[in-house]
Amino acid sequence: MVKRKVKKVSKTAKRVVWKDVSNFASVNDEFAMDSLNNWTTTIGLVKSVISLVERRIEGCETRVFIHAPEFHEYREMDKEGIITVSDDSLFAGFLAMESGVIPMERMFAEKNVADPMLGDMLRELYGCRYIMPVVHGFEMVAFLILCSKGTYKKFILKRDDMQFLQKLNSRLQINLYAASIATRGQRNLLNLKNYPFALQKHKMVADMNNSLFDDLKEEITFTRGVAYRYDEDLQILYPFAFSNVERDKVPTIKVGEGISGQVFKNWIPVFVPDRSSHPAYSLMKEEPFIQGSFISVPIGTEQKRIGVVTIARSKQSKEPFSVEHQYMMEIASAFFASEVINRNLRDKIEESNFSVVKSLSNALEAKDLYTEGHSDRVANYCVGMAKRLGYSKERIHMLRYGALLHDIGKIGITDAIINKPAKLTDEERLIIKKHAEIGYKILSANPYFIEIRNFVRYHHEHLDGSGYYGKKEGEYPEESQIISCADVFDALTSDRPYRKALSQEESLKILSQDIGRKFNKRIYEAMAAFIKG
Ligand SMILES: [Fe+2]
Ligand SMILES: [Fe+2]
Repeated sequence: MVKRKVKKVSKTAKRVVWKDVSNFASVNDEFAMDSLNNWTTTIGLVKSVISLVERRIEGCETRVFIHAPEFHEYREMDKEGIITVSDDSLFAGFLAMESGVIPMERMFAEKNVADPMLGDMLRELYGCRYIMPVVHGFEMVAFLILCSKGTYKKFILKRDDMQFLQKLNSRLQINLYAASIATRGQRNLLNLKNYPFALQKHKMVADMNNSLFDDLKEEITFTRGVAYRYDEDLQILYPFAFSNVERDKVPTIKVGEGISGQVFKNWIPVFVPDRSSHPAYSLMKEEPFIQGSFISVPIGTEQKRIGVVTIARSKQSKEPFSVEHQYMMEIASAFFASEVINRNLRDKIEESNFSVVKSLSNALEAKDLYTEGHSDRVANYCVGMAKRLGYSKERIHMLRYGALLHDIGKIGITDAIINKPAKLTDEERLIIKKHAEIGYKILSANPYFIEIRNFVRYHHEHLDGSGYYGKKEGEYPEESQIISCADVFDALTSDRPYRKALSQEESLKILSQDIGRKFNKRIYEAMAAFIKG
């Protein structure tokens, strides 16, 4: 009895030991393969696969060809490989119908894949011995090639290698598919790169607001949408943009009211796959036009709350929104908010610069008794001329400031000379000439005037070099030439203590005598065209 018992124990022990040895490699493989689940990027996953296979199969060098849908081909991600395979090639088509590990020779001989060049390249350049497709559903997400490494010519896979590769394949089907989905999601986000440019195309914030949904539709599909702007004084949200919703049907809402009001209050984006089955949103009466799946995201930052935008996909839509769309909307909303904040900031700077220009030119007006309204008129002529010369809006803007400030340096000249009711002496003329340089220095104090300070400095230059600084055509900005022409015209058409104003026709005639000397023909013609209307 005892003997039998011992024998039985011994038999069992033997069996257990055998099982352990057999399972050891398998458990080890499984354990090693678990590391594949820890991928964060596709390239990281590919590198783990290569390292795993090469450690497990002696003498094998592995290459992973991943499907790159944007290029319609399979390519190596971890290196700049020589070979890429088109995803509509016969080779890819045959491979997608295979499973397991296929010997290279069988793939190209038996299957008669009509691409002998690809076969030669895989064989000659990489020493390819086996090919393993990774198919998820009906989609081949990748294929691996196992190649002979260095001196291990023509290695042959053993049975346990095959088992290992089968297990690896099932892991890769899931992991590579998940990675490809993640990459697709990232690519969708990348589509948003054009959104800031769409926003910048709008001249005014109002245009940007009105086009909010049209611009968004380029990046994301939705059935309906509404956007609200927060009114800080009244503490309400008033709708400013609509898509497929009648304006009259969207009332002003309080903070915390409806979907959008709640999102604004909590300042947390909300994504709901189906409103009608949501415990809270299905009971909510506000915003009945938001149906199906919806996404609502705040616009702005916690410190600078601008509003909220909500979009919906009706139940009839092909597919409901996913969380990726929420991310897209969050990014789009951030772009929108940053554009609004930047424009508001720019407007404030512009207002402040304009008030500086106005106070400087007012100070000059107060000092110069005989040239009332001169700077304003010169600026007006300059704008009219610049429009005819085809100047950009920005360039005209700066020219206008330059014209308003062209004589600002006269602030630094004594009143006795500025307001002398008779012709100036040579000495006085020399002193008054300094106003160009003084103006340049005054404007140099503000970085905003860096460009226009030269318009001011050179507004008494002539093409032939006979001006204050002796600069010739091309050596000073064209804007100075425009200001100079307008300046002379205004002087001629204004009363002076020692003469009466000339008519516009007479003045233009006098100006025309200076074509080629003080200003070129283009500038004169722009002036004449503006005056003659
Ligand atoms: Fe001047
Ligand atoms: Fe002037």
